[in-house]
Amino acid sequence: MLKIGLVGFGYWGPNYARVLSDLAGAELAVVCDPSPERLELARQRYPGVATCEDIDALLARNGIDAVVIATPASTHEALVRRALEAGRHVLVEKPMALRAPHDIAIFNYLLGGEPRWASAIGARVLHTSRDDIAFVTLGYANEVLGNIHVSWADPNKVRESVAVGTRRRVVFNDLNDGEPVRYFHRGGSDNGATADSFGEFKLLGRHGDIVSPKVEPGEPLKTQCLEFIECIARGRTPLADGRFALGVIRTLAAIDRSMQSKGATVEV
Ligand SMILES: NC(=O)c1ccc[n+]([C@@H]2O[C@H](COP(=O)([O-])OP(=O)(O)OC[C@H]3O[C@@H](n4cnc5c(N)ncnc54)[C@H](O)[C@@H]3O)[C@@H](O)[C@H]2O)c1
Repeated sequence: MLKIGLVGFGYWGPNYARVLSDLAGAELAVVCDPSPERLELARQRYPGVATCEDIDALLARNGIDAVVIATPASTHEALVRRALEAGRHVLVEKPMALRAPHDIAIFNYLLGGEPRWASAIGARVLHTSRDDIAFVTLGYANEVLGNIHVSWADPNKVRESVAVGTRRRVVFNDLNDGEPVRYFHRGGSDNGATADSFGEFKLLGRHGDIVSPKVEPGEPLKTQCLEFIECIARGRTPLADGRFALGVIRTLAAIDRSMQSKGATVEV
């Protein structure tokens, strides 16, 4: 049974506490947060769990095998370093960067590596201290191009990833619970097909079957925690290890440099 310490019991930490205390093979042993109110809430919800106010007290306890960090991103680097130096396994969500890692992580995972170059432009249309919208192009090996559009300004929430290949197009829509994944097959007839009328032209957009495979429902946080404890138990390298996170951060740094020079192509 792995004993796990949870650092941070704010908005997201309680979700970890719930998932971890439900998993076979893991035990939520201690919750750490400097806020007395948050610790009181943790004690109410998990009477058997110990609490402490800082990570040093947590790491000083015997038998804590692993640490889950659920604190604001600006604290990640110091807390993760402290836990690793104390010889603990660490799960920290998102790499230790302060901006926009998700899309990059998805692309680098699906394409099996980092891009070679990045070109990005962004703007602070909401007049905050960070860019609110960005258009990013990433050049991967084998002439594969990735394009990301992110926006805090557009109130229409879109969470969609599209991969276009030679034989099919795959669309993942994170907001569509019923059909999150759809494959759009290309048929044999679309080779060089041209339209004689506007109606035909519209129909050419659809080449073959559209398949909506069954996707087993599951809570992503639970899947993530299971992967973490399984990797510890079997000594396996996680899908998103430190090296992978470094690739994401290198990509983000290149995007930042490109944005500073108004979209110039920069090497990753
Ligand atoms: N995957 C998701 O959908 C998702 C959603 C929200 C947040 N998150 C991630 O979870 C993390 C926490 O976000 P949140 O929204 O819960 O933030 P939050 O501000 O609500 O809570 C953070 C908690 O950490 C505590 N804390 C701060 N510094 C600490 C320290 N040095 N040691 C111990 N505890 C400390 C605070 O007292 C607070 O209770 C962030 O990394 C965030 O990106 C992920």
